[in-house]
Amino acid sequence: MIQRSPEVNIPTVNAFFDDATNTVSYVVQDPQGSACAIIDSVLDFDYAAGRTDTASADKIIAFVKEHDLRCEWVLESHVHADHLSAAPYLQEHLGGKIGIGGGIITVQDTFGKIFNEGTEFQRDGSQFDALFSEGDTFRIGQLRADVMHTPGHTPACVTYLVGDAAFVGDTLFMPDFGTARVDFPGGSANDLYNSIQRILALPDATRIFVGHDYKAPGRDDFAWETTVGAQRAANVHVGGGRAAKDFISLRETRDAELPMPKLIIPSLQINMRGGNMPPADEGGKVMLKLPINEL
Ligand SMILES: [Fe+2]
Repeated sequence: MIQRSPEVNIPTVNAFFDDATNTVSYVVQDPQGSACAIIDSVLDFDYAAGRTDTASADKIIAFVKEHDLRCEWVLESHVHADHLSAAPYLQEHLGGKIGIGGGIITVQDTFGKIFNEGTEFQRDGSQFDALFSEGDTFRIGQLRADVMHTPGHTPACVTYLVGDAAFVGDTLFMPDFGTARVDFPGGSANDLYNSIQRILALPDATRIFVGHDYKAPGRDDFAWETTVGAQRAANVHVGGGRAAKDFISLRETRDAELPMPKLIIPSLQINMRGGNMPPADEGGKVMLKLPINEL
């Protein structure tokens, strides 16, 4: 039985917003010690030039070092389709174990086929240090973290519930923006609805930290923190007790009009490898593929 005092139940959360991809990365800290976890990091990528940059990740590294934090975990809420993960770079500089939902195996299988990866591409999640299942718990220092499997946006999405803070990745966005799209391979509006109902069943005061923000009509600033109570009352897609069938038709109608994220092709190839580039070719060069009429 894990003992929790109220103080230990409230992590210190620092957010890092990436303007280029509208991604929010988090450093989640044990307030009673120096342990921290980094959630959903970004490796900058100039697609036109085929060039990576570590400016965003370096900001997180500087923050962790400046505050004398010890990185225990580098976590992913899912295989992102809109930005590259900096997890291996952060691990190299800060240590920590890289974790993701165990459903990654399904995602690797799906995208391994789409990108026609050979047998050298392991589809067993072995690129990660930890594969989490529903109900798993782990520690960030004295903080307890619980893993909820919250599929829908992808089949492998997880929510990390750390004390009173839920890191929901791409399930719910801010109440005035709604929810995440479900039209990538393996996505499901019905699954997303059910996952969201489980998040909304957490205590009202639970802080919710979202994985992206795009502003919203009438809001000029980026935002990423809200609560379960605010989502249940006012989320424009699922608030006020919206029925599953209404959500599903709203979500599917909206998804039909959304363009693919700019970085989906590079993001999937790299993120399905835990943030690592594909192996270099015989000439020592790293190349990505562009499958035609597949996505
Ligand atoms: Fe995503």
